[in-house]
Amino acid sequence: MISALILAGGFGTRLRPLTCTRPKTLFPLGNKPLSEILVDRLVKSGVERVIYAVNYQAELIMQYFGNGDKWGIDIKYAKEKRPLGTGGPIKNAQHLLDDSPFFVLNGDVISNIDYRDMLNFHMQRNKAFGTIALHPVEDPSRYGAVELDHAHRILRFVEKPEPGEEPSNLINAGTYVLDPEVFEYIPENKPFSIERKVFPVFADQRKLYGYQFNDIWLDMGKPADYLQANKYVLDHFLEKTHSSSNKKAFISSSAEIEEPVHINSSIAIGDNVKIARDTHIGPYVCIGDDVTIGQGCRIENAIIFPDVQIDSFSSINNCIVGEAATLGRWVKIEGLTIIGDYCTITDNVTLTSDVTICPWKTVSESIIKPMTIM
Ligand code: GDD
Ligand code: MG
Repeated sequence: MISALILAGGFGTRLRPLTCTRPKTLFPLGNKPLSEILVDRLVKSGVERVIYAVNYQAELIMQYFGNGDKWGIDIKYAKEKRPLGTGGPIKNAQHLLDDSPFFVLNGDVISNIDYRDMLNFHMQRNKAFGTIALHPVEDPSRYGAVELDHAHRILRFVEKPEPGEEPSNLINAGTYVLDPEVFEYIPENKPFSIERKVFPVFADQRKLYGYQFNDIWLDMGKPADYLQANKYVLDHFLEKTHSSSNKKAFISSSAEIEEPVHINSSIAIGDNVKIARDTHIGPYVCIGDDVTIGQGCRIENAIIFPDVQIDSFSSINNCIVGEAATLGRWVKIEGLTIIGDYCTITDNVTLTSDVTICPWKTVSESIIKPMTIM
């Protein structure tokens, strides 16, 4: 049986306050949780068992995926008593894995890696303890970077290299195939980094291989990454899973959209959404279930969580609006502003450039410089 372990227990600190109430892996992209996009792709590649390594807000992940019946696979959970980093959770899930190679996925990565091809690549290298998917990036310092030889062997693995000290611009794409040998290298019940403590050792032993791919890849670390991931999903990942009349407008049949409303491509509109006349939506907008949008609004490049209410003539550009937030009339928000869950933004308020509002706050004055309202 082919298994995949998804690391889904991180705190997602750089995406606060949105991660205060949900784990990053359940953030909607085109109205679908990131993790569900991963599971769908794994299932299509022949994976029959998914194990979630959970810790922070584990219950929400367990509630969403249950035993996996809905996806026709077996889903199990390995819960940590305390955060075990990126290596400890692998040891913690040993009892749920068999003696064949298995996938490990960072739960915050969106990509179109061909998992089946990657597994074949690993199987053809009988000396490999592990194969890491590699992707080129401009700035490797946020990631794990590698030095690769012509036989696809990783000679060096450096986690978060100092700028200027990167072995190359090929980085760890957060997707691995590992042999069960790896369990010998990870202590039980201890926070442990696979990137710092195992990969450099495997690289020294010449037992670590790199599977290069050069297409869609993104680690959803910061708000700008989240908006970009939403774009990727709307453009590339939804075609076969949502029904719609227009190719890249995924509109629920229960949405009520008044005429005339201008809808661009690359948008997703959830169940029971109501949109009043003269509003412009898109491109790159995802609107969650039960959202209400008044007349004459303009929403572009934005993620609107469920239950949000937006009154007339407001505009949202390049922003994320948390669950059940309320925006008044003539509100204008832009420039990577993040509105936390249950916030209220009163009439005529403008929020520009990197304003972050923590949950439950009311904002009744404009803010035009980067700021966090706690
Ligand atoms: N279960 C569990 N427990 N999961 C965890 C824990 C934990 O204590 N800590 C982190 N994770 C999960 C996160 O939820 C995420 O899915 C994954 O492990 C990676 O953690 P990040 O915190 O997102 O790491 P990163 O993005 O800085 O770096 C990692 O990913 C890069 C590519 O996405 C490293 O693997 C880099 O080498 C890599 O390039
Ligand atoms: Mg990450």
